[in-house]
Amino acid sequence: MKEEIISLKNEAIAQIMEVNSITELENLRIIYLGRNGKLTNLIKKLKEIPNDKRKETGILINDTKNSLNEIISSQKNKLSNSSRKWFDPTIPGVKPKMGNLHLVTQAIREISGIFEKIGFVRVRYPEIEWDYFAFDVLNMPITHPARDEWETFFIDSEVNPKYGQIVLSPHTSSGQVREMLRVKNPPIRMLNIAKCYRRQSDVSHSQMFHHFEGLVIDENISIVNLRGTLDYFAYNFFGKDRKTRIRPYNFRFTEPSFEVDISCDICNGKGCKLCKEGWLELGGAGMVHPNVLKAGGIDSKKYSGFAFGWGVERTYMMKAGIKIPDLRYLYSYDINVIKQF
Ligand code: DAH
Repeated sequence: MKEEIISLKNEAIAQIMEVNSITELENLRIIYLGRNGKLTNLIKKLKEIPNDKRKETGILINDTKNSLNEIISSQKNKLSNSSRKWFDPTIPGVKPKMGNLHLVTQAIREISGIFEKIGFVRVRYPEIEWDYFAFDVLNMPITHPARDEWETFFIDSEVNPKYGQIVLSPHTSSGQVREMLRVKNPPIRMLNIAKCYRRQSDVSHSQMFHHFEGLVIDENISIVNLRGTLDYFAYNFFGKDRKTRIRPYNFRFTEPSFEVDISCDICNGKGCKLCKEGWLELGGAGMVHPNVLKAGGIDSKKYSGFAFGWGVERTYMMKAGIKIPDLRYLYSYDINVIKQF
């Protein structure tokens, strides 16, 4: 009987391993372990076995029954899982969403890249600044009316006898004298890009914005160098077809002072609805005033310099193809606006 049980076990295992469906598996279970199953019938025959062998055979049958049950249940698990987890490795995956750099970050990187090629060094100075560096050293003493144009935010703080009040820097020009004091001996080729703050908010102004400021000081620096630098920048940033022009203006810290315009990309300088006269205003520039050089400890008889300071947002929007109806959208945290650029 022992051999009979073992061959029954092997036969059952072979068949169970071959099944392809849960129904087939259930049929096999009935054939071997059901009420009239092959193994069940052997149990019934136990009585006929001589006493001395009965116990041993009983244990064998029981073990066989247990292992067949185990194999059946593991097969059952396999069959039910494999029907659920159908996997096709050829289906294209789901691409993870990629973020993008903010428009202003892109602009800052592009502007820095252009100026770095001609030797400008990027620096940063405090956004929370003394009145002294924002105005006094730029030839605008405390009583000067020109200060009003900068719509400055003042911090409620004690007034320092030398440096005055604390302000949120309204322009990057505050870095000019700081740079002179840091470098001490020219040449200086500074590019200061930073956040600026002013009390103004409308479609073309936000209370926080960015300026980029150039400052060059060396021997024999003239307006020719300023124009050459402006043209170089316009060519590389706006493209070869755009032209710049300078118009006389008044800033206290440069003499002479200019406003820099770029030819309009829509009408190519002929005049249209957007630009009216064919030119768009970029920002200020000029030859550094001797009083500013003096405040920075630089000998104005030996050295001269030029400076320019423009809005990053404004300049970037003047590049062909980018028109934002309200500048404040850039800082609105609306991802649908930001992700377009
Ligand atoms: N800081 C000026 C402003 O906020 C812009 C400016 C004008 C910067 C002339 C300069 C400059 O460096 O030379 O409007």
